[in-house]
Amino acid sequence: MSEGLVGRFQRTMTAAAAAPSKASLIRINVVFLALFFTVYVALILRPPSSVVESYRVSPLVRCSSRECQSQGKGDTGVKMKVVLEEAGDDQGHMRAGRRNREKIETPSFLKDIIGETTMTKIGVMNMDEDDLSEWGSYGETIPIRFDRVSELFEWKDLFPEWIDEEEESDVPLCPEIPFPDFDGYPEMDLIVAKLPCKYPETGWNRDLFRLQVHLAAARMAVEKGKKKHDDGNGNGSSGRRTVKVVVLSKCRPMPEILRCDDLERKKDDWWYYEVDVARLEQKVSLPVGSCRLALPLWGQGINEVYDLSDILSATKTVRREAYATVLHSSESYVCGAIALARSLLATGTKRDLVLLMDASISQPKQDALAAAGWRLRLISRIRNPKAERRSYNEYNYSKFRLWQLTDYHKIIFIDADILVLRNLDLLFHFPQMSAVGNDNSIFNSGIMVLEPSNCTFKLLMSSRDEIVSYNGGDQGYLNEIFVWWHRLPRRVNFLKNYWSNTTAERSVKDQLFGSDPPKLYGIHYLGWKPWLCYRDYDCNWDVEDNRVYASDVAHARWWRFADEAMDDGLRALCGLTLQRRTELNWERRKARLMKFADGHWKINVTDPRRLKTNLVS
Ligand SMILES: *[C@@H]1O[C@H](CO)[C@@H](O)[C@H](O)[C@H]1NC(C)=O
Ligand SMILES: *[C@@H]1O[C@H](CO)[C@@H](O)[C@H](O)[C@H]1NC(C)=O
Ligand SMILES: *[C@@H]1O[C@H](CO)[C@@H](O)[C@H](O)[C@H]1NC(C)=O
Ligand SMILES: *[C@@H]1O[C@H](CO)[C@@H](O)[C@H](O)[C@H]1NC(C)=O
Ligand SMILES: *[C@@H]1O[C@H](CO)[C@@H](O)[C@H](O)[C@H]1NC(C)=O
Repeated sequence: MSEGLVGRFQRTMTAAAAAPSKASLIRINVVFLALFFTVYVALILRPPSSVVESYRVSPLVRCSSRECQSQGKGDTGVKMKVVLEEAGDDQGHMRAGRRNREKIETPSFLKDIIGETTMTKIGVMNMDEDDLSEWGSYGETIPIRFDRVSELFEWKDLFPEWIDEEEESDVPLCPEIPFPDFDGYPEMDLIVAKLPCKYPETGWNRDLFRLQVHLAAARMAVEKGKKKHDDGNGNGSSGRRTVKVVVLSKCRPMPEILRCDDLERKKDDWWYYEVDVARLEQKVSLPVGSCRLALPLWGQGINEVYDLSDILSATKTVRREAYATVLHSSESYVCGAIALARSLLATGTKRDLVLLMDASISQPKQDALAAAGWRLRLISRIRNPKAERRSYNEYNYSKFRLWQLTDYHKIIFIDADILVLRNLDLLFHFPQMSAVGNDNSIFNSGIMVLEPSNCTFKLLMSSRDEIVSYNGGDQGYLNEIFVWWHRLPRRVNFLKNYWSNTTAERSVKDQLFGSDPPKLYGIHYLGWKPWLCYRDYDCNWDVEDNRVYASDVAHARWWRFADEAMDDGLRALCGLTLQRRTELNWERRKARLMKFADGHWKINVTDPRRLKTNLVS
């Protein structure tokens, strides 16, 4: 792990002195990598012998269509059956007793959504032939075929922990997910899909086959669904375009793909959506996982012009968009939120800045926040029912209130401990959920592109008793709801920490933290926040467990910005409390007693905030 990291930093370093003909190099690399990847995929897909063994016992039940094909049973009839059989399993039906299975009734609302037209074309995906008999009376059913994604792929192949974002030695590529041959199908009035569901098995929400059926249905809807203009007036001249999608699913469909806002009817396990085509089109045009950047860094990642043609939504309507942050439970982040607002405004953005706060923020602090540029909204904080009483993250679910900002079409949420260095408006072109990778297949919730929606908020609230957040915070929770996310470059939300504790890592990251004009879009101050230290040095040095977060360069950058961007009135909000000063001095003393080798505890503190007369309440 640390070796890999060192390699990465060395690569980053060599790239800093990259040759001018980088573009052509990348092109050659792409060709080689494509070749290499084809061979690689072919190797990966060949099942190990023990797996083949079990397939032979009962190929119709166990093998995925891909392996069946390689065993010479590649005609579509068999392939389709295999997929159906497997899907039956997922629904919890008996493996052998297919005939015992209850036939699935068509949804009772079908007549209403199809209307009186006689020539209805219904595309059906992942459905059993038996289940289709009734559908025939509603129109012509068109089975949609595709190979099932290999069982040998795992979620982490699509959502890897790390990718070579800067394309120094690699062009990130994604594993192939088979999709239908869209061109081979006619336009369809309705698309029907049976979604696999392994709930309540652990990991049911990170099931590749489930994702595949979702995406296949979504892409089919975008490409072949008959589009209807719907402006609520029925005059067809403006408003959103919709297509009809019906899914059969025991667990809730993925909200990242099928938005709850588009859900028109729900009966038993049937869900009927009138899907907003523009939004869906944008989502399916992005890479299928976080295995590639949704926003590629071109050039040196500093003066690139991003080609938005792929992701610009079809509508030209001016949208309401805002940056937002959340303060709750205490005033300790007020100073950070002030610096954040000033840093956002310094990038020249014209978007609204919205701050959600609970009743813990006093009137003078509210005035200062408003003076810094925030539009304030009072919220009541949200408890994590699984958190311990009075724990530091008991109310971290308050972030869910962002989804209630429904007077905005899109929100870029930014944690109050982030300093923005470059304009982030580009991110408004990305759909929910777009974020920077954290670890494993998890995104960091410090900067998120999200789409406010009352029903999404309801979903977040209603799952609180069920979902366990891996870290007790909102990040762990949101990652269980939005498992399908889009990777933004790390430079957008660059974490202030040094995992590997090597000089190579230090020198690369310090160069990034310090560069002027900035190369980073945002620095995320993990550990003790700059405004809770003396300005003389990063006080994370004095705490054993926090030393991975200690960076004098990043610390100095925050203070330099605060000095330039805040007047005395705002800066007065960044004073130390007596309690915090006591903690700081205590940690400094401990570091001295333990003689920490970095010697930061030796530095004479000159920060006037240390003086008793300057302490704040
Ligand atoms: C469509 O309806 C809207 C709202 O009632 C109206 O302003 C517009 O003129 C109508 N367009 C047409 C072409 O009738
Ligand atoms: C969301 O709910 C709030 C009230 O809880 C309501 O004022 C608002 O209009 C709703 N937004 C939408 C888009 O329906
Ligand atoms: C909870 O929120 C606090 C304050 O916003 C933050 O410092 C902390 O890291 C969060 N905890 C988790 C586990 O997300
Ligand atoms: C980091 O490296 C230094 C010197 O290389 C060493 O003294 C220190 O213990 C390391 N810290 C951690 C947390 O591994
Ligand atoms: C810190 O201040 C003390 C007294 O003012 C002085 O004697 C000492 O040399 C200073 N130390 C450093 C490292 O500047």
